[in-house]
Amino acid sequence: MPLTNTKFITDIVKQAAAKARQEVSNEPEPELTEPISWPVECTVGPGLEGAIACETKIGYVNGTRGSLIYRGYDIFDLCAEASYEEVSYLLLHGNLPDADALTGFSDQMQEFRLIPKTLRLIMGFPVQDMNPMAALRMGTNLMRQYQTERDQVGAASAGTKVIASDDDSIPMEREKTGDRRAAFEFSDRNANRPRRRAKAKREQAEARGLESCYHLIAGVGTLTAAIERVRMGHMPIEPDPELSHAGNLLYMMTGRRPYPVEQRIMDICLTLHADHGMNASTFAAMVVASTLSDIYFSIGSGIGALNGPLHGGANEAVIHMLNQIGSSRRVGSWYKEARANKTKIMGFGHRVYKAYDPRARVLGPLAEFLVERSGRKDMQKLLATAKELEKRVIADLGERKGIFPNVDFYSGIVYSCLGIPPEMFTPIFAVSRVAGWTARVLEYLKNNRIFRPRGIYVGDLDRPFKPLADRG
Ligand code: COA
Repeated sequence: MPLTNTKFITDIVKQAAAKARQEVSNEPEPELTEPISWPVECTVGPGLEGAIACETKIGYVNGTRGSLIYRGYDIFDLCAEASYEEVSYLLLHGNLPDADALTGFSDQMQEFRLIPKTLRLIMGFPVQDMNPMAALRMGTNLMRQYQTERDQVGAASAGTKVIASDDDSIPMEREKTGDRRAAFEFSDRNANRPRRRAKAKREQAEARGLESCYHLIAGVGTLTAAIERVRMGHMPIEPDPELSHAGNLLYMMTGRRPYPVEQRIMDICLTLHADHGMNASTFAAMVVASTLSDIYFSIGSGIGALNGPLHGGANEAVIHMLNQIGSSRRVGSWYKEARANKTKIMGFGHRVYKAYDPRARVLGPLAEFLVERSGRKDMQKLLATAKELEKRVIADLGERKGIFPNVDFYSGIVYSCLGIPPEMFTPIFAVSRVAGWTARVLEYLKNNRIFRPRGIYVGDLDRPFKPLADRG
């Protein structure tokens, strides 16, 4: 298979879509797709399961059918036909961009991908020894430099708009070296003039909040790649203006320009992870934004929530689990023991999906394609183990408990074949999801109401107070 034939990848997505449409209908759940009037009655479980917190036009997860929609478009169509840039624009603006809008958006992303000052700041920390998600969370906070408008007295009364931080302003590492020879170079500040003009233009822009979203969407990619470079003992690489967001991510991480096929697959991965309802990290980001804190803090909170193994950390856990099982022949005995110990099988089950996750439908065949192409024996073994485990779990828990593979089951194999180490899987998830986080935060702030659920107090009510001397 030529590494430039991206049509082949589109065909894989279309086949997955056809299979999904044959097996499930796209019929929406009326209780989750019809406008409501507040206050609304709903049945709420622990962890706010079932709670309705807002109305949204951004995305819909149909857990019963196993379908996913962004702004009205089926995820399969977006994966087959659109780029991550188009999808990010769609999530933020509500419509797919026309050619001019897409060029404008891509240009801004290209500009914001350069965050030399943030990188210089983060290099002052022991990034190579840190959990990459901790470094990423810190990095997004470092992107918020100096004071923002939000810090000024009276800012809260100026409305609920999200505002941008000051931009990075010191260009660095101007050479595209792509290898160990990379070095930081602080060039003449005058080289910044075109950027300053662009900044002046941007300042005229009406939607200032959107700018910080673009800044974050572009910057989280650069940060993630830089963190991986530093972990590997290299210097960060400057983005390549010729490459897409997905292409740049792979290039800046690995130092090698990706083949079109790899770039296309990474793009699909970013599209698949861009938004997913009010999941824990999105909710965390929204909660922080609802206090009128700014979007940099909000996204940092999303990253914190995504880090957990029950959320974004699951694909890394899947790879460890598959390695621990060892081979497809050992799946039977491993599974028996796991069930006996009530161990949750990583990469299966979902709070919303009680059907096959449509994202796994795309990632499974992409993993097969990449493993076959790689010729790597270790990956073949991992994939064979995964396939066998999938059969077991579906046979045992599919119909009975609505437990099927979720997005994390195959994504780790895909990323491994693209040369990404397991520790970077969750940061890659954040690179994509930042589009959904920012879009949902912006939307929520238009009708902001600070989040404030209540807990039911089940503790004692009238304990007599004992002074320290009497407590024994
Ligand atoms: N393996 C085995 N059993 C599972 C399971 C899994 N991965 N996920 C759920 N179950 C079972 C539970 O044991 C429980 O069984 P019970 O009714 O006999 O007690 C039932 O399904 C409901 O589980 P619960 O944990 O209440 O579901 P949830 O909606 O709260 O959990 C997840 C959703 C994602 C947290 C859960 O499925 C999980 O931990 N999966 C593994 C981690 C993972 O892949 N996360 C990525 C999500 S995209």
